[in-house]
Amino acid sequence: MKVYQGEDYEEVSRIVADLIEEEMKKKPDCVLGLATGSTPIGTYEELIRRYDAGELDFSQVQTVNLDEYCGLDPENDQSYRYFMNQHLFCHINIAMENTHIPDGLETDEEKACGDYERCLDLVGAPDIQILGLGLNGHIGFNEPANQFSQETNCVDLTESTITANARFFASMDEVPKKAYTMGIGSIMKAKKIILIVTGEKKSDILNAAFHGEVTPHVPASILQQHPDVILVGDKEALAGHFRKDVA
Ligand code: F6R
Repeated sequence: MKVYQGEDYEEVSRIVADLIEEEMKKKPDCVLGLATGSTPIGTYEELIRRYDAGELDFSQVQTVNLDEYCGLDPENDQSYRYFMNQHLFCHINIAMENTHIPDGLETDEEKACGDYERCLDLVGAPDIQILGLGLNGHIGFNEPANQFSQETNCVDLTESTITANARFFASMDEVPKKAYTMGIGSIMKAKKIILIVTGEKKSDILNAAFHGEVTPHVPASILQQHPDVILVGDKEALAGHFRKDVA
């Protein structure tokens, strides 16, 4: 594992954008695995800035996203499809048909997961997979469990996630109770994984993920077994635990 430390969120975002740019220059038709959540927003802003400056060309790039809520229309502003369009895809020259996200409107769970797994096979393993880290160690929507999930699966969101999400919806009934997510096995197929972690509140779980035992109770701990992981964090998240590893 390599560790890069940024002074602050902006520098962390620039470091991640540098790594993506390097891959895109090497392989213009690369596959990028993307995440939603607050962590990668700065990276997406930096990629858009570089695209606007004529430094990046996404015309041959394909993307696969980690997850999507079940039951949300792509036009719903809480769907991850909407998030990706707003934060990245609508601002760069990527072909929308080259952007892949699980189909949240497919009510047949088996079909939705099977279709996405076939899509991942067709597109091929991501050259780079971006990951954020949940406070409980989750990656994608793979929550702590007794075993590591393998393929794309449908997860029941925990009560705490549902309650936390309620503020974004008009009523409790509208809050999604399930989500489709790439499995841990699918995530581990990526050729390179970049885990982006910022903020003091993630320091302990980050330390547990890389310096504790590999266990499905801390899903991100599986990354210890991936041959090419880059951790990019700010001082607060790395908080001394990774000082000797910083490149
Ligand atoms: C997002 C995702 C999640 C987030 C994680 C961190 O597609 O799959 O695992 O990466 O919950 O979220 P933030 O970045 O909001 O702290």
